[in-house]
Amino acid sequence: MSSAFKDRVADYTARIERVLDRWLPPAEKRPERLHSAMRYAVLGGGKRMRPLLIYATGETLSVPAEKLDGPAAAVEIIHAYSLIHDDLPAMDDDELRRGRPTCHIAYDEATAILAGDALQVLAFHILAEDKSMTALPTARVEMLRTVAAASGSAGMAGGQAMDLAAAGKSLDLAELELMHIYKTGALIRASVLIAAQSASGLTADKLTALDRYAKCVGLAFQIRDDILDVEGETEKLGKQAGADSARNKPTYPSILGLEKSRRRALELRDDALSSLAPFGADAEPLIWLANYIVERES
Ligand code: IPE
Ligand code: IPE
Ligand code: MG
Ligand code: MG
Ligand code: MG
Repeated sequence: MSSAFKDRVADYTARIERVLDRWLPPAEKRPERLHSAMRYAVLGGGKRMRPLLIYATGETLSVPAEKLDGPAAAVEIIHAYSLIHDDLPAMDDDELRRGRPTCHIAYDEATAILAGDALQVLAFHILAEDKSMTALPTARVEMLRTVAAASGSAGMAGGQAMDLAAAGKSLDLAELELMHIYKTGALIRASVLIAAQSASGLTADKLTALDRYAKCVGLAFQIRDDILDVEGETEKLGKQAGADSARNKPTYPSILGLEKSRRRALELRDDALSSLAPFGADAEPLIWLANYIVERES
C-alpha cells in the first residue's frame, strides 16, 4: 500500500454519499415526508465508519470497491436507522445528531419511527438486489444472514434493550461489555465480515483473524463513544455531550473511570492490530482505522 489510508478517507466518504443517494427514494416521490425524513437521517453527515471499515477490508483483501458499495450502503443505512430510533423520546431522547436536529425534531415522532422502519428493510433490499456486488447467491445469503443477525435481538436491537434496561442501574464490567458488544460491536463486526464474504478463497485462518480484529475495534469504538460523552464538546461531537450521565447510563467511564477506560480501548486496539499479522502490509487501511477509532475526537 503506497499512500496512507487517511488520504483516501475523503474519497470513500464521497463515494458512499453518492451510493446512498442513489439507493434512497427521491424526496419528491410519494409519501414525500417519509422519503424526505429517510434522506435527512442518512445523507450529509456522520463519519461513515462502517463503510470505511468495509472498503478498508476490501483493500486488504483486494476486493474492488464496486463490489462493496451495496454492503457499505446496507450497513450504513441500518446504522442510520438505529440512530433515529436511539434518539427518540422513548429511548435516549436526544435533540441533536450529526450537528443537526434529530429526525423526530426535524420531522415528527411518527415519521421518525417509520423512517427507521423503512430504512431497516431498505438495507436488506440493497443486499438482495445490488447487481454490482456480483456475489454468488450463497455469498449474498451469507451477507443477508450476517447483517440480520447483527441488527436483531442478538445484536444491535438486543443491545439497545439492554441499554434501556440498565438506565439508573449499575452493571458489572462483564454486563457492560456484553451490552456494548451487542449494541455497537455487532454491526461493526458484521461490516468487516460482509466485506470478507465478498472475497473469494479467503482461508479460515484469515477470516478468524479479521473477525478478531472486528470484535476488538467494535468494542473499542463504543468505549471511545462513552469517553467522548464525558470529555468531548457538543459542537465537535455534533451531539449532546454529557447525555449518558444525564440519563444515568452505565458506561465505561462511569464504571471503570476515564483512565482505565482509555487503557482498555488501547488494549483492544493493540489486540486488533496483532490479529492483523497474517496480512502484513496489506492491512495498512485496517491498522489506520483501528488507531483512528481510539483516537478520534468526534
Ligand atoms: C454513534 O455512532 C452511535 C454508536 C453506535 C456509538 P457513530 O459515532 O458512528 O455516529 P456517526 O455515524 O459518525 O454519526
Ligand atoms: C447507540 O449508543 C448505539 C446504537 C445502536 C445507536 P449511544 O446511545 O451511546 O449512541 P449516541 O452516543 O447517542 O450516538
Ligand atoms: Mg443509546
Ligand atoms: Mg444515544
Ligand atoms: Mg453514546
